[in-house]
Amino acid sequence: MTAMLNYNQSNLRKEESHMLNRIDQLLLSMMAHEAPDAERIQHFIKVHDFARLIGQLEGLDPAAQEVLEAAAVVHDIGIHPAERKYGRSDGPLQELEGPPLARELLSRLGWEEAVIDRVAFLVGHHHTYTEIDGIDYQILVEADFLVNLFEGGRSAEAQREVYRRIFRTEGGKRLFRTMFSTGAEEQEP
Ligand SMILES: [Fe+2]
Repeated sequence: MTAMLNYNQSNLRKEESHMLNRIDQLLLSMMAHEAPDAERIQHFIKVHDFARLIGQLEGLDPAAQEVLEAAAVVHDIGIHPAERKYGRSDGPLQELEGPPLARELLSRLGWEEAVIDRVAFLVGHHHTYTEIDGIDYQILVEADFLVNLFEGGRSAEAQREVYRRIFRTEGGKRLFRTMFSTGAEEQEP
């Protein structure tokens, strides 16, 4: 598994570890890790920013916010290895392949074990919608859907179904209603 990470590309320049906060360090490392796949990089940048904003709207404490943001940055780290190993990257394979790589990337950047444990758990469950056990997990799933509904060109019917089945936070619902015309049909809280 260790060989999967490109350490040269994941390494930050020396001065960057002082200039950047650790989410920004993680963003750069994850971009290097996914390079040169612009589609995957743009996906996680969007998921991270929606997750960040929903976390702020929901008033997460700084520790929970950081876990959420880190998980959003690395949530799809299992896609490339799943494609390489199995020729496909459906949810369960991503959930299998992602956590060890997420752990390795975060350890390398010096993150604490307790934070890494929760981020790895979220990476390993982000396509499992029946076991949501915390606000970080809920927001990660909502942020990923905000992006996937758009990127996947999902039908109005699929959008409505996802909104009703998945979205629970006021922040996530608000972003959905702002972004998708189907959201206008939904009752504001
Ligand atoms: Fe995703």
